[in-house]
Amino acid sequence: MTGRSAVTVRVPAKVNVQLAVGGARADGFHDLANVFLAVGLYDEVTAAPAESLRVTAAGPDVDRIPLDRTNLAARAAELLAARYGLAPDVHLHIAKDIPVAGGMAGGSADAAGALVACDALWGTGASRDELLAICAELGSDVPFSLVGGVALGRGRGELLTPLEVGGTFHWVFAVADGGLSTPAVYREFDRLNEGVSVPEPVASGALVEALAAGDAVALAGAVSNDLQAAAVSLRPSLVDTLEAGGGAGALAALVSGSGPTTAFLAKDADAAAGVAAALMASGTCRVARVAAGPVPGATVV
Ligand code: C5P
Repeated sequence: MTGRSAVTVRVPAKVNVQLAVGGARADGFHDLANVFLAVGLYDEVTAAPAESLRVTAAGPDVDRIPLDRTNLAARAAELLAARYGLAPDVHLHIAKDIPVAGGMAGGSADAAGALVACDALWGTGASRDELLAICAELGSDVPFSLVGGVALGRGRGELLTPLEVGGTFHWVFAVADGGLSTPAVYREFDRLNEGVSVPEPVASGALVEALAAGDAVALAGAVSNDLQAAAVSLRPSLVDTLEAGGGAGALAALVSGSGPTTAFLAKDADAAAGVAAALMASGTCRVARVAAGPVPGATVV
């Protein structure tokens, strides 16, 4: 024990600038070429000593996240405690700002945040690789929430290679009413691709170059999301949001991950503010948020 009384960890949301999806594997997952970019919208997870494991949450839509042991943050604490022979007696408080079930890795952020917070609280001394292995057990996107920045995720998204990035990109995120279930979106992807031979997912060379150059216009020409058709099929109104942002001068408009949040790349911070105002006025989303990235992953504050 280190004797710390509480530890707070800040964890960013992500947008997938490329999400190339292969066919369904024998284990039900899909092989991916998944280029993650961490953006400055954050959840904060605080771990404090308690009599037993307890999760509380505050923020928009927290009534839609479970507060029992099925919460990914609780599972992270239990997994870490079991690994080190400790009792997972901790109060985890999640201050949520990342849209719930929005395709921005909010649940994964909470899992990575809880892991880093409990690790610091309990003084386990776990190595970065040990923490990354626990992250991969918790979910495909959790390792990226730990590392942040920009990275290519292979396998089901958990095998990360950091990518070079030459600047900051300015984004607008249009938050939809309600969430979309990631497994449901992948099932819809499989349904839409039935009888089609889905090619091996590969990272786009043009996209990797645009990131390295920090070139927003080139990046806009290279972004793609193979889950977009499936998300739009389940939530047809997303087409209106994508058109509203595109019509307001965004360089690119795409669904973020499995949706239903939509992401708009802008030329600079001023352009992003303009796109956000137009999206708010369009009535095609609940709220539009600006955020820049890349930013670092889970960080003790
Ligand atoms: O790994 P995670 O628990 O976040 O995945 C949630 C669900 O998303 C999986 O159960 C699976 O249905 C789908 N998934 C997938 N292929 C991936 C990642 C997720 O099919 N590479």
